[in-house]
Amino acid sequence: MQEKYIDETKQGEAIAIAEKPENTKKLFLESYGCQMNFSDSEIVASILNDNGYNTTNNLEEADLILLNTCSIREKAEQTVRMRLSQFKNLKKQKPSITVGVLGCMAERLKTKFLEEEQLVDLVVGPDAYRDLPNLLKETDDGRDAINVILSKEETYGDINPVRLGGNGVTAFVTITRGCDNMCTFCVVPFTRGRERSRDPHSIIKECINLAENGYKEITLLGQNVDSYLWFGGGPKKDFNKATEMQQLTAVNFAKLLDLVALAVPEMRIRFSTSNPQDMDLDVFRMIAKHNNICKYVHLPVQSGSNEILRKMNRQHTREEYLELIKKAKEIVPDISFSQDMMVGFCGETEEDHQQTLSLMREVEYDYGYMFSYSERPGTPAHKKMEDNIPADIKQRRLAEVIALQGELSRKRMEGYVGKIHEILIEGISKKNKNQWKGRNSQNAVCVFDKLDGQKLGDKVSVFVHGNTQGTLLGETVL
Ligand code: SAH
Ligand code: F3S
Repeated sequence: MQEKYIDETKQGEAIAIAEKPENTKKLFLESYGCQMNFSDSEIVASILNDNGYNTTNNLEEADLILLNTCSIREKAEQTVRMRLSQFKNLKKQKPSITVGVLGCMAERLKTKFLEEEQLVDLVVGPDAYRDLPNLLKETDDGRDAINVILSKEETYGDINPVRLGGNGVTAFVTITRGCDNMCTFCVVPFTRGRERSRDPHSIIKECINLAENGYKEITLLGQNVDSYLWFGGGPKKDFNKATEMQQLTAVNFAKLLDLVALAVPEMRIRFSTSNPQDMDLDVFRMIAKHNNICKYVHLPVQSGSNEILRKMNRQHTREEYLELIKKAKEIVPDISFSQDMMVGFCGETEEDHQQTLSLMREVEYDYGYMFSYSERPGTPAHKKMEDNIPADIKQRRLAEVIALQGELSRKRMEGYVGKIHEILIEGISKKNKNQWKGRNSQNAVCVFDKLDGQKLGDKVSVFVHGNTQGTLLGETVL
């Protein structure tokens, strides 16, 4: 499967670039979970880089260890707990080391973290990273420190993220934070707070800056990018108080895409994540209008059953979702889609499950990210519904959904064979050092032999002559 959640091998990977000669302390920073966490870590590194810390990926030399954590499923939290337990010996050998937890688990568990994990000295939620330098003064004095205040305004818009551990070709640019959707299964509205949009000027400035630094692709990030809204100087929540002129000149997501596409015409533009209920057809019209906006949309649906969608508080039906996909394909004929699917939600029947499989067949997704429902404390589903699907049934349904997606992916990849694609070179193939790895506009990964004169970040024409389930095999067209 593709990377949306940064691929397994990258989870927790240490990153090291942020360097200032005058800095004397070392930060070891690991990220878990979604792209937003990886992007937030770049903001954290930037703040700490201005406050005495260079990053390192050598644990032994760290003065400060920070884990940017994920709460989306129970397993994600277990992974972090296990990682923390590995630091115990280190702390014994070097008691001066500070261990901190950032992100969604910090926000969810708050002071409990300090009580439960004796090892942890510092707990900081996703909206409180500017406070890190102050909090570190407290830990330096031997006190535990915590800030988990959520904000309705914070977007870190003025902070230029330090690009960590990337390939120098692709970068994330955050455009919204938080989520107001309240899907009943989801912990994100509780851990990341209310939705807010970032000032488009600062977004465009960051994109231009990336282009000037040689980047070739940006992914605009948000929990729900389609509800992006900015009007003359205020966040979305104040829209009704805005003047008529401000409302008329508001920037919605389609308009933002237009502005970004024009500002950085040489850059490829992607975005994630879209939500069917907020997606406007104008977004697809922008994809059709601009060559540099990629023809790929990640459009989570979770289930193909109306009854389950209702219980999940997803604000659309199966029919509305399929209609949206149909219209999108009319506007952008060669568009591709990927999904998030969740099996085994409260009360899911065999019939509901079959509806999920039939919806997948109808859409023919290129990729999928599939999960088994994991009850999260404090969510509406936890409070009001019973997690009543036995583990073995969840597992079997998940296996069926994954197997079907495998078939669909293979079929979609076969559809790309026999044609020339523009591939952006993003790295070297893991399996063969003599081959490049890149993606086409539809986000399909393609590998092909390196030729003299080609380099990272080049866009090359590649003839695709074969495929595996998830990868295109090609050769450069000269
Ligand atoms: N809008 C977000 C969604 C975040 S959660 C985004 O930017 O991607 C990502 C996916 O995790 C969801 O789409 C859902 O399929 C899955 N997920 C969320 N809560 C879950 C839970 N309690 N159990 C299992 N999977 C869950
Ligand atoms: Fe979660 Fe639904 Fe928002 S999945 S992040 S509450 S769109």
